[in-house]
Amino acid sequence: MEETISALCQLYGPSGHEERVVERIEKMVKPHVDELHRDVMGNLLTRIGSGGHKLMFAAHTDEIGVVVHYIDDKGFARISPVGGVRPLWLYARRVQFANGTIGVIGREQLGNDPKDTDWNHLFLDVGVTSKKDADKLIAVGDFGVFTRSTVSQGKVVISKALDDRIGCAVLIEALKKLKKKAKNEVHFVFTVQEEVGVRGARTSAWSVTPDVGYAVDITGWGDTPLVEPMNVELGKGVAIKAMDQGTIVSPKVRKLMVDTATAKGIPYQMEVLRGGATDAFAIQFTKTGVPCGVISIPTRYVHQPSEMAHLDDFAGAVKLVCALANADHKAVLAT
Ligand code: CO
Ligand code: ZN
Repeated sequence: MEETISALCQLYGPSGHEERVVERIEKMVKPHVDELHRDVMGNLLTRIGSGGHKLMFAAHTDEIGVVVHYIDDKGFARISPVGGVRPLWLYARRVQFANGTIGVIGREQLGNDPKDTDWNHLFLDVGVTSKKDADKLIAVGDFGVFTRSTVSQGKVVISKALDDRIGCAVLIEALKKLKKKAKNEVHFVFTVQEEVGVRGARTSAWSVTPDVGYAVDITGWGDTPLVEPMNVELGKGVAIKAMDQGTIVSPKVRKLMVDTATAKGIPYQMEVLRGGATDAFAIQFTKTGVPCGVISIPTRYVHQPSEMAHLDDFAGAVKLVCALANADHKAVLAT
């Protein structure tokens, strides 16, 4: 399973440009699903099982990044964020473009304090001295992502784009374990454009119209020095979300998740995330409304070039997805 995570993390796939990731996932899951198609937005929708209730599990394929919005006469580019990236995390980092071009992010040295660095103080340096030469490597409208190797060390994995390729890997591993059998009609959806406002989940949830929806995504952490208090630690189990900025998890879904984890002996942590949202934000508001839950993988240094997650939490998330795929959802839908 580490191979699945690292293969996916290394792919280039900023929001709106997820084709390489979606293509790879399609190859990986094809033998394990009954049905599969891509929609207009680029989401990959798959299904296994029939009967019971219609469940949707969503993990997003896109990653945060930057977009080039201007190139000056000397060939320095100016960049804007794609998703939740802070200037402080970008300075002196490398980014990579679809054509393989590497750029270093520099900061104007004079006239601003490092702590006040904003986007207007940053530039992208691809090692040229003129716009003419820069034009051979990058163009306005090109999207770049962090570039870093993926490392597994002991029980943790360290990589860019664990958000949310690790969630995609959870769904892929769950599909392999389920062997096309589930007591519900289960739709595993690999969504696009989550990081810019859960856009792919909106259209795919409309087409699936699930009875109950689940997002599988990373969450924050509360176990490094002087970090904001949070009831989530690496390696202490999959996190079951109570609330984030986009979703209050339906109490009946939350109860089913807790009861299921308890019955299966899957360690879990109750999570409240004070910033951020997931695909559940979109799924919950589909048509006349869909009860939603979120399965979270505790992750340190979210949206930074080296995110860190624990393989035990990953394994717990796979088990919880499999158990929920087979769980009776009657109680969730009773009014
Ligand atoms: Co994210
Ligand atoms: Zn995410």
